[in-house]
Amino acid sequence: MRKTLIAGNWKMHGSKASIEALLNGIKQQLDAAWTSDLLVCPPSLYMDGVSQQLSDTPITVGAQNMSEQEQGAFTGEISGDMLQDFGVDYVLVGHSERRSLYHESNELVARKFAKALEQGLKPILCIGETLEERENGSTMDVVKQQVDAVIDFYGDRSTGLNKLAQGVIAYEPVWAIGTGVTASPEQAQEVHASIRRYLAETKQTVADTIQILYGGSMKAANAEQLLAQQDIDGGLIGGASLKADEFIAICKIAG
Ligand code: 13P
Repeated sequence: MRKTLIAGNWKMHGSKASIEALLNGIKQQLDAAWTSDLLVCPPSLYMDGVSQQLSDTPITVGAQNMSEQEQGAFTGEISGDMLQDFGVDYVLVGHSERRSLYHESNELVARKFAKALEQGLKPILCIGETLEERENGSTMDVVKQQVDAVIDFYGDRSTGLNKLAQGVIAYEPVWAIGTGVTASPEQAQEVHASIRRYLAETKQTVADTIQILYGGSMKAANAEQLLAQQDIDGGLIGGASLKADEFIAICKIAG
């Protein structure tokens, strides 16, 4: 049985005041009976404060990005060790905004994934196709290349798959991110199942156990149908994670 993970990606939103209000709203409505893993990824400057405010809750804290480097003269970057130092558990790597706006290549994302594991963090590998790629029928080619970059980083496929399995995959079709247009449950399920089939070609156990989250305009109104899909193991939620009631409603659906 794969565990459900509900993760909020706050992106570059919030202030001390708005984050405190959001967390108070969330904390008031948490239900101890929920068994899903819950995660929020605040902007890095706020991570420590958020960790402290959530210390008496089961919600863990993740980063939105990290450096592929260990340490050194890399102005503006944050290393995995620094994240560890602040008790961060998860880190997003290869979010589509990082890939498109900051030109992160598959190879760079693979290096970040590997460095995160090396430094004791759980990487969430974000993958997904653009609208153009979907329309020209190359969704699976794109997604496979994004996954393969991580697997190939390790040299042989078997080792690569074992490493991949120590992280999480988040399928986020670019055309569904921040657009209000969500993938239909069937569209999302089809890609999730195809990813598992692809991994199963080399290692069935990895295909069966790896968590694959869906992201892209997930909200309370569509979470139930998406999370009901057999191969969808949770959500990576942007906009809706900034509203306590929406985020809590999704957590409640996940249970
Ligand atoms: P939205 O939920 O705002 O579409 O963002 C999804 C996302 O990019 C999460 O990482």
